[in-house]
Order: sequence, then C-alpha cells, then structure tokens
Amino acid sequence: MPQPMIERYRDTLPLEPGDPVVSLNEGSTPLVEAPVLSERVGARVWLKVEGANPTGSFKDRGMTVAVSRAKGRGAEAVICASTGNTAASAAAYAVRAGMTGAVIVPEGKIAIGKLAQALIHGARVIALEGNFDDALVLVRELSERHPIELVNSVNPYRIEGQKTAAFELIDELGEAPDALAIPVGNAGNVTAYWRGFQERETAPVLYGFQAAGAAPLVIGEPVANPETVASAIRIGSPARWEEAMNAFNTSRGRVAAVTDEQILDAYHWLASNEGVFCEPASAASVAGILNHGLPVVEGMETPETVVCVLTGHGLKDPDTALGKAPPVISCANEITVVERAVFG
Ligand code: F0G
Repeated sequence: MPQPMIERYRDTLPLEPGDPVVSLNEGSTPLVEAPVLSERVGARVWLKVEGANPTGSFKDRGMTVAVSRAKGRGAEAVICASTGNTAASAAAYAVRAGMTGAVIVPEGKIAIGKLAQALIHGARVIALEGNFDDALVLVRELSERHPIELVNSVNPYRIEGQKTAAFELIDELGEAPDALAIPVGNAGNVTAYWRGFQERETAPVLYGFQAAGAAPLVIGEPVANPETVASAIRIGSPARWEEAMNAFNTSRGRVAAVTDEQILDAYHWLASNEGVFCEPASAASVAGILNHGLPVVEGMETPETVVCVLTGHGLKDPDTALGKAPPVISCANEITVVERAVFG
C-alpha cells in the first residue's frame, strides 16, 4: 500500500518518536500535465492538484503534522481562524484524533462546501462579524488563554507538513520545476514550498499571485477591507509576510495581482479546456501566468517547466461555478424535444 506522506517523509518532519500518526492518507496528489495551457504560455505546464487531498485542499498536508504533534503533546482541542479550507481540514483531523475542534470564519464569506464540511465533522463553527484577519487575532489570543492548539499556518508544524508538496514535485519530475506559480493569502503555503525546495537544495522561481482587492504583498502594506470573489484568499494582513517576501526575492521571483475577472476567466477556462475543476482562489496561479506571462529573470533562460499549484477543489464552491457556467437546459419528456435539447 502506498504510504501517506507523513510516513514517507517522516525523517524530514519534526515529529517526536512517540507521536501518533493522525492521517487520512493525504498527499501524493496528482501532477497533471496541461497541454492546452502549455501551448498558450509556451512552456511545459503541470497542475499540482491539491484538491485531491482528503478534505479537498492542501491544508491536509499541514494538518496531519500539526494534529499528530498536538495529540502527541496531549492536546484535547484545536482551533483556527479560516476562510474555509483550514476549518474543513481541522474539523476532519480533530475527529480523526479524537479531539474537539472550533473554527472561526468570516460571516457570509466562506464557500458553502467548506461550511458543510466543518459542520458535518462536528466542529463548533463560529461566524464572526469581521474578516479573516480579525478572526486570526482572536484565535491567537484564545489559544494563549486556554489549553487549545492553534492550527493556523502560524503553527510551525503546518508549514513543515506543507513543504512535502515540494518534495513530491521533485520526486515525480525527477528535478525541481523551473518555476512555480502559486496563489497567496496568509502566505503559509509559499513559505512551505520554499522550505521544501531549499531542503532539497533547489530554487525554482516562485511566482505568487494575490487577488487585486486583497493584495497586501503587492502594494506593500496591509489592506484593511480585503475584497475578492476568491474568498479563500480574502486576506489583508498575511501572517507569513516576511518569509513569503524573502522566498520571492531569494528565488528571484515576484508577487503580482490578478483581478477577479482574470481569476474567474482562468477558473472557467481551466475547467472547460483541461478538464480540471479547482476553486476560484486556486485559479489565481493560472490567471497569473496567463495575464502576466512567465517570469523573466535576468541571466536565466525562460522557464521550460512550470507547475501551477491548484490549492483546492472546485466542488468546495458550487455557487461560483453555477454563476459562471452556462445554464441548465430544461426539457419536456419527449424524444424530439430531447433531441433538440441535446443537439442544439
Ligand atoms: N488557496 C486556497 C484554496 C486556500 O484555501 C488558501 C488559504 C490559499 C490558497 C492561500 O494559502 O494562506 O497559505 O497563502 N486558505 C486559508 C484558510 C487562509 O483559512 O483556509 P496561504
């Protein structure tokens, strides 16, 4: 049986010998070649389909390590602030560990699938009259006041777990890609990829993309009221700001903004041209290379291999899909009418 990534890469992870393995067989996600996209951008482009993780996003890589360590230390409860995916993942891994979970989400601003996940796993779901940044301040404070483990990406074990995605890319491609395009919100994931690449002594050009209405790293200061259709990355004050900027600079990459329209176009385009359905925030990576082109680095060849990280599954957010896709065709139960409906 293939090993879950927490076992496969255990010697690179800061787990203690007695820690239990709290796992749902995360990781080992598909690396899917994207021929149509490759043709459009003039490089060989691969999609790292992180939506194929057990709860449908990359968060599971970090959560398995954070919750295993928390359980090993005797913690009984976990808490996080979330735009949705961390909440879904924390709720599932808390169940798996026999722990309780509480999640604080911005009211009315998380995709319906993520809410359903957190609720069905039995987490206490608190809808805050505020945004993600407000929620993160509150959970930091709560975890200091109470014996409850904070499992946001400020938790170092989350980053450690998420770095395994970089290992998988190198192991599967035989070497690191020339460039990595990645959506950026709280900036934990880009920090994690960079750590993984560095631990393998590689340095692809990191190309990060934020939504234009929530682009603090691009404008160089926090955004008080971030807004974007890509609710997962509706974040104005990223916790891993400095580390992320260091990763972009050291890799000779950059962080840029993509508009909601560009994000939704890339999201729809990917689903209808490559057969891959990701959530809107994930499509920021594809929107980025489509609208900004491949990174140009002085003294370096144009990248030949590029990986776009698709961070979460499209089914997380059916409302956005239904809003973007063509309508259903209603049809009477009669062969000639059906014929017309099918063939146009
Ligand atoms: N893509 C998706 C689908 C996400 O859910 C997130 C973050 C990101 C990209 C950005 O990753 O924060 O490490 O830069 N979601 C967090 C959450 C904030 O609460 O689920 P990042």
